[in-house]
Amino acid sequence: MTERKRVTLPMLFQKVAEGVPITMLTCYDYPTAYFQDQAGIDMVLVGDSLGMTMLGYDTTLPVTMEDMIRHAQAVRRGNPHSWLIGDMPYMSYQPSVEVAIRNAGRFMAEAGCDAIKLEGGAEMADRVAAIVKCGIPTMGHLGLTPQSAGALGGFRVQGRAAQQAKKIVEDAKILEEAGAFAILLEMVPDRVCQLITQRAKNCIIISLGSGPHAHGQLLIYHDMFGLYPKFKPRMAKVYGDAGKVILDGLKQYVAEVTSRQFPQPENWFGMPDEEYAELLRLLGG
Ligand code: KIV
Repeated sequence: MTERKRVTLPMLFQKVAEGVPITMLTCYDYPTAYFQDQAGIDMVLVGDSLGMTMLGYDTTLPVTMEDMIRHAQAVRRGNPHSWLIGDMPYMSYQPSVEVAIRNAGRFMAEAGCDAIKLEGGAEMADRVAAIVKCGIPTMGHLGLTPQSAGALGGFRVQGRAAQQAKKIVEDAKILEEAGAFAILLEMVPDRVCQLITQRAKNCIIISLGSGPHAHGQLLIYHDMFGLYPKFKPRMAKVYGDAGKVILDGLKQYVAEVTSRQFPQPENWFGMPDEEYAELLRLLGG
């Protein structure tokens, strides 16, 4: 089997130029990263959604840079080929441009990421420009931005009204002008996403629940496989119920241990008779 080539920015823009949709998923751990690499996923986001999917918080707000770096390192070890994006957690970029640069740099230096992502439009353009100036590819995130879900009225579609949609379209242009190589549009109406994609000159537009017209698609891995027990967003497609497979297996394990069906000889290790006899002799038995 030929080794997969490491994805580069020119390769991603080549896909855009050829009209080939880009594939993107979230990932937070080593084994999943390995499988995503095998499947040939183009872009992988170590999202701060890990606060909910992996750490059990109700929001992404408690996630720290330490959490993010630890998970990004594991993902990089499992997947050396996809274009790896580290998601800047809450308050790792909002306080100042300098804080933003330092934390963006940590994803690159400590976790081997290829890029970072941060949430926000015009108000974050100075952070984007400064990080890009340091040579760090930066992805923007507009529409439903979970770190400000409270201010946005919850996890709901953004930009259904013309005024709000205009702001999202303008923000996308501002982020592109600030140097963002890509923008994630989360839960934005399909026609707004189409307008932004058509207007993008040198920026990859990725849709999460924002329709088919973007340059690529993103799903939250846990939503795809029934691994987040609290809820399944309407926009997510379920490709398999791994949660059910795991729960069934766990119930079977409990039943088998309780009824002494587990373990069987193939599940343990023995020792030669003469060694056991010697052991008993040594123990004075
Ligand atoms: O943290 C994350 O996974 C994200 C997604 C919601 C795109 O930012």
